[in-house]
Amino acid sequence: MSCDNYGVANGSTCACPPGFGGANCTNPACGGDIFQGSQRALAQPLSGALYANLTASGCACESGWTGTGCNVCTSAQACQTAFSNSPQGQAAANSTDVGGGAGVSGLNNTMTCSTVSRVWAAGQMSCQVINPTLQALFTKSTTLNILRTLDPTQSPLPNITSFGPSGSVTAQLWYDGVEQFFCTADSCVQDFGDGGASSGASDWTCQDLKCSCRPKSSFCGANPSSDLTQTLNGLSGSVTISCAAPNSTTSSTTCSFKQTVIDSVFGPGGLTLSGCTFGECVRQSVIDSSTAASGNGNSTTAAGGGKSLSGGVIAGLAVVGALVGLAVLGFAVGYRQQRKARRGGSGSGRGGVAGSFEGGEGEKARSGGVAVEWNDVSYVVPSSSSSSSTFSLFGGAQKSRRRRQRREEGYSDEKTILDNVSGRVLPGQMMAILGPSGAGKTTLVEIIAGRRKAGVTTGSVSFPPSSSSSHESAPYPPTYTPRIAFVPQEDVLPAQLTVQEALLFSARLRLPESVSEAEKRERVEEVMTQLGIQDLRDQRIGSGERRGVSGGEMRRVSIGVELVGRPDVLVLDEPTSGLDSVSASKVATALHTISHHPTSPTAIIASIHQPSSKLYHTFDTVLVLAHGRALYSGKGGGAPAAHFAAHGAPRNDLASEGYNVADYLLEVAADPPPALFQYANVGERKVSGGSSAVGVGAGGAAAAGNDGGEGSRSASEEEKGVEELESGRVVRRHAAPPIGSGRGKTPGYATTFLTQLQVLSGREWKILRRDMTLFILHVGVACILGVFCGGLYFNTNDTIAGFQSRVGCLFFLGALIAFSSLSALYNVVDVRPLFLRERSGRYYSPSAWLLSRLMFDVIPLRLIPTIIVATITYWMAGLAKDAAHFFKFLFILVLFSLAMTLFNFLLACTFRNGGIAILLSALTGLYQMTFAGFFVHLNSIPPVLRWLQWICPLKYALEALSVNEVGAGLQIKDTLQGVPVDVSASLIMQLLFGFVLNSYYRDVLVLFAFIALFGIGVVITVWFNVRERR
Ligand SMILES: Nc1ncnc2c1ncn2[C@@H]1O[C@H](COP(=O)(O)OP(=O)(O)OP(=O)(O)O)[C@@H](O)[C@H]1O
Ligand SMILES: [Mg+2]
Repeated sequence: MSCDNYGVANGSTCACPPGFGGANCTNPACGGDIFQGSQRALAQPLSGALYANLTASGCACESGWTGTGCNVCTSAQACQTAFSNSPQGQAAANSTDVGGGAGVSGLNNTMTCSTVSRVWAAGQMSCQVINPTLQALFTKSTTLNILRTLDPTQSPLPNITSFGPSGSVTAQLWYDGVEQFFCTADSCVQDFGDGGASSGASDWTCQDLKCSCRPKSSFCGANPSSDLTQTLNGLSGSVTISCAAPNSTTSSTTCSFKQTVIDSVFGPGGLTLSGCTFGECVRQSVIDSSTAASGNGNSTTAAGGGKSLSGGVIAGLAVVGALVGLAVLGFAVGYRQQRKARRGGSGSGRGGVAGSFEGGEGEKARSGGVAVEWNDVSYVVPSSSSSSSTFSLFGGAQKSRRRRQRREEGYSDEKTILDNVSGRVLPGQMMAILGPSGAGKTTLVEIIAGRRKAGVTTGSVSFPPSSSSSHESAPYPPTYTPRIAFVPQEDVLPAQLTVQEALLFSARLRLPESVSEAEKRERVEEVMTQLGIQDLRDQRIGSGERRGVSGGEMRRVSIGVELVGRPDVLVLDEPTSGLDSVSASKVATALHTISHHPTSPTAIIASIHQPSSKLYHTFDTVLVLAHGRALYSGKGGGAPAAHFAAHGAPRNDLASEGYNVADYLLEVAADPPPALFQYANVGERKVSGGSSAVGVGAGGAAAAGNDGGEGSRSASEEEKGVEELESGRVVRRHAAPPIGSGRGKTPGYATTFLTQLQVLSGREWKILRRDMTLFILHVGVACILGVFCGGLYFNTNDTIAGFQSRVGCLFFLGALIAFSSLSALYNVVDVRPLFLRERSGRYYSPSAWLLSRLMFDVIPLRLIPTIIVATITYWMAGLAKDAAHFFKFLFILVLFSLAMTLFNFLLACTFRNGGIAILLSALTGLYQMTFAGFFVHLNSIPPVLRWLQWICPLKYALEALSVNEVGAGLQIKDTLQGVPVDVSASLIMQLLFGFVLNSYYRDVLVLFAFIALFGIGVVITVWFNVRERR
């Protein structure tokens, strides 16, 4: 037994909703009133017609009743009369218990007709459906009848004047007097909005909507071209019937019928119902008691009727709150650490560097007193070295695997750059490493300084602290990690800073926290004086493009940057190259002074290229390298020449007056007689001041210094040093391979994270302020682009063409951001060398650098210009004119800009070759434009490629922007060949671009996910990939 209009099958009959009757509830009532129930007269289908037609049947309403089907009362009198005439009413009149036990004696049981939109028990309403789009298809009068049942037990005749359970609704749509389809929904909540019950407005929100088309009715198949069967039968989900307060004179009002699909067709306002009339026959007592109970409460059923935040907003707020909380917590922890470190507590720094400085005030200035000793250092690179490969992540492991494999196969494709080189420098000594070009000087000093090398290093480098009497301070603790400063050959300095600022930057990061700012400044002054650059204090360092200090001055600044940190050992690669002999000698003298400091003697090792005679003689010891092997290691001065001469080297120069020993040494090293190596190879290895005096050269002898070349083995200072070293050695040597990993623990940072961040931010801010061109350029370009884009899409209208312009404008902005964030990539490429140098010098942790870049690159150069472009364009183009939509629009663009910036950072960090990174970034931009949904309809892309849309950030950004724009209630009003079009823009958006309605918050989350993904990628690549590997 099937019943129409959601009638309830009851054996062989159907219990029909008010206004319907017949065996299957198919027939509408004709005249009469709702109290008549099954006794009511029904309209029958006319001959040939499928369904009854109220208009054609001439059904007219009795006095006091109105609406299609005459279910809506207009007067209390009509209700009273109808009730009294009904069998139940007559029965009730004879009884004290009125109307199914609902009436309570003593209360006003008079029947009244309530014409407000609020429902008391079960209320009827009837509305006109006037909509241009519908009327273009269906030109005659369309009406919608709705019965809202709040509490059937309170209705005058339960299940006759009401229908369905509490909180349900049934509705029928009539077109020209014929019912077209009927709907029902349950779990309804009546809500009175912000104005409260007294406002007269009401909202009914129900769930589980379902609708049934009456087959072959005008709406549902009578005309195949306008068959809505599928759409109507597919309606589901929640539905809201919102009604404004009825006009007091006409007692009619406007309502809207909102449901997702309906909204997508008719706009977010839903289907507008005009001229709605309400009429509910209800006992006065019901009105009285429910007014008393709920007062002016907002909601009559569910608790808490107020507007609540949507899930997306709550999730967003939670994420933002958590991030802010985390940042505050991080800052608090950092601040505590910093305070502790400044007070000289043990919490400073993270490694051993600062640890040794915490002993007390007197210890602060302590440095030096550490010897350097390297034994059998060899360095091998694969001859087909691809260390400069563009993509270097994971490259190392693969390369070494390949090498191993080839070795196993019997190939030897390795190139030995250093071959068992040994030597030693004591505190208070300065060693020159001499040798022709390509001898391996740079390689050796880098290994000594502990720089990461691409090849395989074997041997040991140790830094035994000296307990020599010349060093007055107490011995270093065994856990002490000496500070090794390395000055590379090339000067990489921040061009926008002045000399003093560059040195101060280094001092702030390399001196322990417990050293006060005044002391740091003092140290900077001291170093500037030592190096003779005090006059350059306020001069910008400059770069190749913008001249600042000269090359020689720059060299000294580079040395100074390392010196301010009071290193224990100073290693320099060609500190004098490119300097005239006077400047070179100045540098050498300064180094000599530092090395021979009475209280903190420092071991200094410098590779030297072509030294003048004077320069050569400033060095105490010399290591001569030839083809990666040590030819001589020992005392400087005339000693090496004499040694060479003694062991078979040509001695022609020795006689000439004023000859330069260094020239002679280089000459010999350039083409060393095999005897020298032969002799050296014969030499036994010997470590300390033992008996044998041989062991100079390629065989590698740590005690070569003792040999002195001339065989003089007096109880020299060096010898004493050796013994002391032997006794007080802090063993950090590793017998065999490889040095890179075996140098003991890497030293920590001298300062806490917060200090690093502060100092770095200070520098970035200074650079940004000085080099305002970049900022002004970005802002200027943003303004121009904003005006251009705004002009392009100026005041877009509501036509179909206007809609295309709107989405085009949003797409343009997205593409603009995707491409303009390319400059982020270049900026990283630009600052990379400085970061690499400072990172390997352990100035700061990569995370501090990343954070400072985020603050001083991303915010001023990416986000602010994005906001400017977006704001200008938004208001010029006349997009949704309210604050909420504007900020949601801005939010998406900011997120997208952030994602793109991080993506470009990632590319710049992954690829050493900037060209490749830029190419990839541009190609990605193109890909994003393709899959954003603007150029190609996403659903028409072949499935093989369609998935690419899901990893396209621009697609999410554009979708969110479009959804936000149409979500503002954009209604497209146009005329297509005379046919008026008035549809919601969301419908067109879905058709044209395949964007999903209500996907704003999903897109926000996806963009956040992209940001997190790229952010983590950047952190990982910076940690593991952006580091020096020479
Ligand atoms: N990673 C590497 N791959 C291949 N060859 C390398 C590598 N590192 C160094 N070499 C080679 O090792 C040799 C020594 O290089 P190094 O830079 O140490 O020489 P140098 O003595 O400093 O020369 P110069 O005085 O010209 O600076 C050179 O022939 C160089 O080509
Ligand atoms: Mg070199």
